[in-house]
Amino acid sequence: MGLRRGRTEATKILVSVVHVLTAMVGVSSGQGLVPGVIIFGDSVVDAGNNNHLSTLVRANFPPYGRDFAQHSPTGRFCNGKLATDFTVENLGFTSYPPAYLSQEATGNNLLHGANFASAASGYLDSTANLYQAISLTQQLQYYKEYQSKVERVAGKAKAAALFAGAIYVLSAGSSDYVQNYYINPLLSGSYTPDQFSDLLLQSFTTFVQNLYNMGGRRVGVTSLPPMGCLPAAVTLFGGGSNGCVARLNKDAVAFNKKMNAAAQALKKSHPNLKLVVFDIYNPLLDLIDHPGKSGFFEARKACCGTGTIETSLLCNAGSPETCSNATGYVFWDSFHPSEAANKVLADALLLQGIDLIS
Ligand SMILES: *[C@@H]1O[C@H](CO)[C@@H](O)[C@H](O)[C@H]1NC(C)=O
Repeated sequence: MGLRRGRTEATKILVSVVHVLTAMVGVSSGQGLVPGVIIFGDSVVDAGNNNHLSTLVRANFPPYGRDFAQHSPTGRFCNGKLATDFTVENLGFTSYPPAYLSQEATGNNLLHGANFASAASGYLDSTANLYQAISLTQQLQYYKEYQSKVERVAGKAKAAALFAGAIYVLSAGSSDYVQNYYINPLLSGSYTPDQFSDLLLQSFTTFVQNLYNMGGRRVGVTSLPPMGCLPAAVTLFGGGSNGCVARLNKDAVAFNKKMNAAAQALKKSHPNLKLVVFDIYNPLLDLIDHPGKSGFFEARKACCGTGTIETSLLCNAGSPETCSNATGYVFWDSFHPSEAANKVLADALLLQGIDLIS
């Protein structure tokens, strides 16, 4: 309890410090503490790229986005803002990095970063391919293309400052497990969870090395969430029980431990690389175990539909059970946190990410 209050206080102080710094840098011009934010990964951070693909994994229809600006869907898998939207605001920006495949991703709009993430993507290109999403390999190719566009708009010097100073966020891994490994006998028959995590982490290391070679110096990567507590995972893998699936959470903890070791190794071999592993496992598990402490009342069922299975196309305007106010729900749909939970996660990210902006 004391520790909790201490951490909350620390977060508040840090948020104030960041706000003051931000004011000094000049928020009015839309300038942030860093020159830009560049986002890669999956549905946790996708801001609308999948709207432009033939994939079925999309969220550009109601009730998605009902608590977002203009109350309209954008392709975000949430009722409102993603954790990264709050982070971008905390850093002092007045607009979000545009989804790279959207019409907004052009000209001066490119100068504070871009978002390359694609729902159902993962560390394995084969995970993305299963769902016609954009693989991480392809996301990096788009990033390369983005770099030449920025050079054309802003000139080489300004572009280089953006690429070196920007914060790069990567969110991946959940889809590799929940939408691939656990339901794909070809994978689960060939690899133990431990071997599978090694496969993913090789891809993680390669991704960071490639990003580094393309100029990235400040990278934040999210850990795996408590996958066994995602409402859909409880339904699909819980064997009728209503609690978090221990096996899946154990896999996430083991993966996260290895990811921290892989990040340490990368930092050692790249001395001027700032690399932070954002722990989202513990903040989210804390919300799920003790929702009331943070003003939530429902952590098992998601707001959308019956709250036990629906995401993407199944979470739609035709579901009569959808809750009328998602504020008290930890989960918006059966895979994704609500805006209210994303705010809590973003506060945790801010505290953990201070190294990236120093
Ligand atoms: C949802 O509930 C919260 C907390 O009770 C309240 O502050 C908010 O205004 C409500 N939102 C809507 C859209 O009714």
